[in-house]
Amino acid sequence: MGKQTAIHEQVLITQSTQALMELDAKWASDYDRNVNETWGYSGPDRTRYGLSKYLEPEGARVLDAGCGTSFVGVALSSGRCRQIDGVDYSQPMLRETAKKGVYQHLERMNLNIALPIDTGVYDDVTCVGTFTSAHVVPEALNERVRVTRTDGIVCCTVREESWQHTYFSEVLDRIIRAETAKLLALCEEPYVHSEHSICKMVVLQVERP
Ligand SMILES: C[S@@+](CC[C@H](N)C(=O)[O-])C[C@H]1O[C@@H](n2cnc3c(N)ncnc32)[C@H](O)[C@@H]1O
Repeated sequence: MGKQTAIHEQVLITQSTQALMELDAKWASDYDRNVNETWGYSGPDRTRYGLSKYLEPEGARVLDAGCGTSFVGVALSSGRCRQIDGVDYSQPMLRETAKKGVYQHLERMNLNIALPIDTGVYDDVTCVGTFTSAHVVPEALNERVRVTRTDGIVCCTVREESWQHTYFSEVLDRIIRAETAKLLALCEEPYVHSEHSICKMVVLQVERP
């Protein structure tokens, strides 16, 4: 793997949510600078582009699950999305995000457990850069689907190593076989250019009545 900052290397080998949150607390104020100066991070822009094929951004109510410091919110705003909520488990990341003013509502939530959000309230849910190492477990995809309305879109990236070494694809298959959601796209996208890494991008359309 190519160039990473030391803290990013630690984040990728972290084993627990608690240890990850401690690292994120140290990283939050430098995260934007790291990403902008060294990563060449295309996940947020690829997500905006991927979604633009399926979602009319104006008027859409979007949840950015694992919003970090708001790269996805900024990308979606530039694509005419105006009603974006953000959730993340790291309070310091949420504080950085609040400074940008792109999210209507921000809340601290653990994405690995049931979300305190009603079923089917969002037109679109994004989850970018969070299905990776010790971050968000594959089963959490079920909750992303649950909070999305019928015919709404769920768009997530899965770091290639996580795709290979977790059971994400099995969770995805179960959702598709249960006809809870239909697979609109599953493709490889460039991810962090300094690492030469790629991710899988998954786009689902929710079918549940
Ligand atoms: C690599 S950052 C990606 C942030 C943003 N989506 C982006 O693309 O820049 C991963 C984010 O996932 C959050 N995260 C990790 N585990 C989480 C969990 N269990 N619940 C909610 N957020 C979590 C971290 O706090 C961090 O902000």
